[in-house]
Amino acid sequence: MTLKKFTVTTARGMLPVLQQELTHLGIEKIKPTSGSIGFIGSLTQAYQVCLWSRVAIRVLMPIAHFAAKDTDALYEGVKMIPWENHILDENSTIAVDFHHFRSKIKHSQFGAQRVKDAIVDRFIEQIGQRPSVELREPDVRINVYLAHNQAKISIDLSGDSLHKRGYRLSPTTAPLKEHIAALMLYQAKWPQLARRGSGFLDPMCGSATFVIEAALMAADIAPGLSRDYFGFLYWKQHDKQAWQTIKADAIRRRQAGLSRLPTIRGCDKDASAIKAAADNIAEIGLSEYIELEQIDFTSNPVSHLPERGVILTNPPYGQRIGSQQDLPQLYYQLGELVQTSLPSWQLGLITDNEALLKQIKLPVQQQYAIDNGPIPCQVIHYAAQRGERWQTRAKD
Ligand SMILES: C[S@@+](CC[C@H](N)C(=O)[O-])C[C@H]1O[C@@H](n2cnc3c(N)ncnc32)[C@H](O)[C@@H]1O
Repeated sequence: MTLKKFTVTTARGMLPVLQQELTHLGIEKIKPTSGSIGFIGSLTQAYQVCLWSRVAIRVLMPIAHFAAKDTDALYEGVKMIPWENHILDENSTIAVDFHHFRSKIKHSQFGAQRVKDAIVDRFIEQIGQRPSVELREPDVRINVYLAHNQAKISIDLSGDSLHKRGYRLSPTTAPLKEHIAALMLYQAKWPQLARRGSGFLDPMCGSATFVIEAALMAADIAPGLSRDYFGFLYWKQHDKQAWQTIKADAIRRRQAGLSRLPTIRGCDKDASAIKAAADNIAEIGLSEYIELEQIDFTSNPVSHLPERGVILTNPPYGQRIGSQQDLPQLYYQLGELVQTSLPSWQLGLITDNEALLKQIKLPVQQQYAIDNGPIPCQVIHYAAQRGERWQTRAKD
């Protein structure tokens, strides 16, 4: 078995969880760096990361490393790479992502253009014809990272960000990114709790990101199983046999996992959010496993839920949706829901609004920073308070 080097990227704050996932996949030679994790392993293991990681963003396979102080050196270095070993033929499509850090080349678009020119010129010299450029879902996506004038050229095996699971048909106004929902579920120990029959509730589910990710995790469904595009599928060295084997195993695990799903429920007061949620849930084939209700959780009692469970939610926080004056009461009622109706449940939420957090009169279990797109946010996990202390705190 040939071993290669790979680099896996993720968002700020997610590296420790990513490292645990890689270890869980049986990858041993792992080396965390400042913004990514490197590992030495087989191509099959890289495919497994693409299929199974819930928090990874990209899986890159470096193929060349050289000094590039200017665009001519970049062009020459890229042209030396035997692209005919990676790009199938002149009918293939390519795209170039260019990132720079403390380097003389500071123009990403121009850098990407020179890299593309070098690949195309090599093809024309070798076979007289050239591959074309396709920015969305190219056959081969090339990643260039230029740091301190050293270029690292990689094949992007993920092809598109891995947080896109393939189920988001109808986004609502402010959907949470899938890998953030997955991180919060891991931090709430949802996989372990689901195995013991705990329930899951998102009382403000929007387009259903939390409930879908909770179901995928609890049923042992690979998050990439519904994707029909990866960056390796049309790459010349793609190992079809290895991919078919790990996909077949994931399909078997899905069938077994669906038979042991606990109660998973999403609620939202908005009809269009419930419609988007239902469409997304249907797209990933989970309609019969996830309960959806169009209700305002502040004025409707919860019923038919297990004694223990996890609430994770992404309430409006005023930046994108939600009227500022109603929000303190909404946050207060979220804490009250746990305290009075679901006292053996835990609550976790993501918000950018520290002031609103004061409205939740529950003891904090853990807190960490995360970016929801461009918005820096806090994630806070709470548990219920003992009865009398809740009365005292609620009056504060
Ligand atoms: C930020 S969005 C949730 C986004 C969701 N996590 C997703 O990924 O699509 C907040 C949602 O809370 C819902 N909401 C606000 N107040 C509510 C209430 N009192 N009861 C139920 N849903 C509510 C809104 O309709 C909106 O869909």
